[in-house]
Amino acid sequence: MNLGTRLEGAVSLLSEAENKQTFADIGSDHAFLAIEMVKRGIAQNAIAADINKMPLEKGKENASSQGIEIEFVLSDGFDGLENKGLTFAAVCGMGGELIAKMVLRSRITRQCLLVLQPMSAQEELRKALWDNGFCIIKELFAVEGGKPYTLMQVKYDGVKREYDYIDLYLGKERKETAEFLQYREKIKAAAIKRRLGYIAENKDTCEIDKLIGIE
Ligand SMILES: C[S@@+](CC[C@H](N)C(=O)[O-])C[C@H]1O[C@@H](n2cnc3c(N)ncnc32)[C@H](O)[C@@H]1O
Repeated sequence: MNLGTRLEGAVSLLSEAENKQTFADIGSDHAFLAIEMVKRGIAQNAIAADINKMPLEKGKENASSQGIEIEFVLSDGFDGLENKGLTFAAVCGMGGELIAKMVLRSRITRQCLLVLQPMSAQEELRKALWDNGFCIIKELFAVEGGKPYTLMQVKYDGVKREYDYIDLYLGKERKETAEFLQYREKIKAAAIKRRLGYIAENKDTCEIDKLIGIE
């Protein structure tokens, strides 16, 4: 099954989990990620969870056509998974604010290795994680269909992190891979547009200017 570079990035970060007993893919849709995690022997058990019934049905068909057994759960975020003994989980392909809400609302996210892949508002997700005692262990950048994505490997340790404006938009690691540089260009292009709004509203542009000027 071809996962594409974005979900392959998730697989590579999930493979580093210490405890691979029970994996959950939240917002599983087609369930490709959960299926591959079991098929490749990375997860001993997998749960595909989605808030909508249709994706779960689609996922069930895909799993059965591959001969893979996974559990399917109708769930809003991690809500239906509190007693499933999760050891690692992924939340990919949703907005950063929604992912942040899911992670903060649940208690089990404090016990799992998490891989989070926001499609938007990455800065809101980083802020929520750092303010609430989650460590972004590493960020991996993947380009698929010409678009750059970030994937965050995250673990709760209860330590609130300090950060600045650039950390929020680009992460703290900023290793200059080709994928990161493409991501940085996208963030800078969005910042240039946002700056016009700042000027119209008479807001201080000092921080955004630093982000735009970063080389
Ligand atoms: C764009 S798809 C992403 C699919 C897959 N995770 C990926 O990255 O390719 C988003 C999926 O998340 C599900 N979803 C949206 N909000 C959700 C929530 N609050 N809890 C669980 N699933 C949700 C949608 O039904 C949909 O199947």
